[in-house]
Amino acid sequence: MDPGVRDALLTAYADGSWGRYHGHHCDQLTQQLAESHHIEYVWLCASGTVAVEVALRGLGIGDGDEVVLAAYDFPGNFRAIEAVGARPVLVDIDRETWCLDVQAVEAGVGERTRAILVSHLHGGLASMSELRELADRHGVAIVEDACQAPGARVDGRIAGTWGDVGVLSFGGSKLLTAGRGGAIVTNRQDVYQRAKIFCERGNDAFPLSELQAAVLLPQLEKLPDRNRVRAENVSRLLAQCGGWSWLQPLGVPDSGQQASYYKLAWKVFQGAGSPCTREEFLRVIQAEGVAIDAGFRGFGKRSARRCRQVGDLVNSKLAAEDTVLLHHPVLLEPFAVIDQLAQAISKVVDSF
Ligand SMILES: Cc1ncc(COP(=O)(O)O)c(C=O)c1O
Repeated sequence: MDPGVRDALLTAYADGSWGRYHGHHCDQLTQQLAESHHIEYVWLCASGTVAVEVALRGLGIGDGDEVVLAAYDFPGNFRAIEAVGARPVLVDIDRETWCLDVQAVEAGVGERTRAILVSHLHGGLASMSELRELADRHGVAIVEDACQAPGARVDGRIAGTWGDVGVLSFGGSKLLTAGRGGAIVTNRQDVYQRAKIFCERGNDAFPLSELQAAVLLPQLEKLPDRNRVRAENVSRLLAQCGGWSWLQPLGVPDSGQQASYYKLAWKVFQGAGSPCTREEFLRVIQAEGVAIDAGFRGFGKRSARRCRQVGDLVNSKLAAEDTVLLHHPVLLEPFAVIDQLAQAISKVVDSF
């Protein structure tokens, strides 16, 4: 419950801006995203999913091009690459961060590669300085998907701004939410221009509405504080949830980084000696009232007709089978609730 959102809704109703094509809310959001990201250009759009496609189109990627991405990622990212006519190249993820493995990317970049699509997933942060160096060395672009990590800092720089173009989501479950919505952020004028031309069809074809922008503004202001509270609560939770052989949290970013926890990832090891399958664990933990779900399905089983696969993708396949995700709302609760959550998880673990 955010009184800032309620006030924004009431004000938009009273001043009529809720029903207008254009107004000051989208302009203000564009400006504040640019300022908070220290970036030149922002283009608001209808979702993170379409923003990834707009980012690729902004880079001029199309037929015959290849785009490298993780074999464990948001499903729409694979489709966005196909939507622009390019071919996805699947590479493995890092065992610790669940994000792109830099050496695997190095092996995946080929003659036709035009871009690397990097997502920060589940509270983990991709190794952006290494990926930036690699991309520059090969003369390829980076699309940095920060849909799960708004306001996170990677080596001091805000997630989304390491890429030639960054992507944000304001979807219904996100840390900044308007039910739907997204944006690209970039310092490249050519990318911004191409994105704009793609979206402008006499009218904006994939717009963010004035009302959506109005409810995002008060949330954007609070994002740094909320990210700090979520990170503190993750530390407190994990301090009480350790030492289990078959349920382990994803390695959290070290103290030099600032994660933003849209989801908190855990791995349920399902090999020999494990007391339960992921599905059994999910059934019991959900019955306990804890908002934990399965992770992405990954692309490890995609046909070779649709993509090029590099290596055995072993970590991505494990991530697809083993990941469970704690959803973020509880991470803004007081310590007492976090302690209750830790007890609930411990109780379920002990029950197996
Ligand atoms: C990593 C990642 N990229 C892109 C998206 C797409 O965002 P949207 O739901 O706004 O389309 C999501 C949504 O969950 C996501 O997790």
